[in-house]
Amino acid sequence: MAGTSNPDVTPGGVPAILFDASAIADAVARLAAAIARDLAGEPVTLIGVLKGALFLTADIARALPAKTDVRIDFVTVSSYGNAAFSSGEVRLLKDTTESVEGKNVVIVEDIVDNGLTLAYLQGLLGARRPATLRSCVLLDKPYRRLTPVAVDYTGLTAPDAFIVGYGLDYQEKYRHLPYLARLEDRVSAG
Ligand code: PRP
Repeated sequence: MAGTSNPDVTPGGVPAILFDASAIADAVARLAAAIARDLAGEPVTLIGVLKGALFLTADIARALPAKTDVRIDFVTVSSYGNAAFSSGEVRLLKDTTESVEGKNVVIVEDIVDNGLTLAYLQGLLGARRPATLRSCVLLDKPYRRLTPVAVDYTGLTAPDAFIVGYGLDYQEKYRHLPYLARLEDRVSAG
């Protein structure tokens, strides 16, 4: 996942909590309420960006009103691989399974760091003539942008730390943590 500095991984312990499950749930509820308000009863296609947004996409979908026509799709992109720093090249590894033409699309991203991934996806999906195209992001590092990118829904502003958990990884580890944590800070395993 997106990193800002070389993570100083010390042996033992687990990454320390930055935003706990309750803070994540509050942010998800706010995001879903804002999306539902703007949809005004219209159908929506959520496009989760794997792998990082797998839990967020599931939680946003379940927080939308039951009466909403919600479709869920995924893309897989990679710009970091197993590196702490972006290669600057975004690769589409898996496309959507359904057409987005004429749909109300919301891109669901776990984090926006330098902005290259979201900008790439907005360009890719925007060219396919969706009715509307919005972007929903749980964590934003607005001070890290290399390219300007519009974010319609932002959950939390992230500090300049390497963040793992709730879908975010370091070398594919830690995605399973039910909270967001700072990789650099370690606490005794519970
Ligand atoms: C991460 C994250 C975003 C992207 C954001 O994906 O999930 O998609 O980086 O970074 P950017 O704004 O600097 O482009 P990553 O490439 O690490 O893949 P992953 O989601 O599978 O962990």
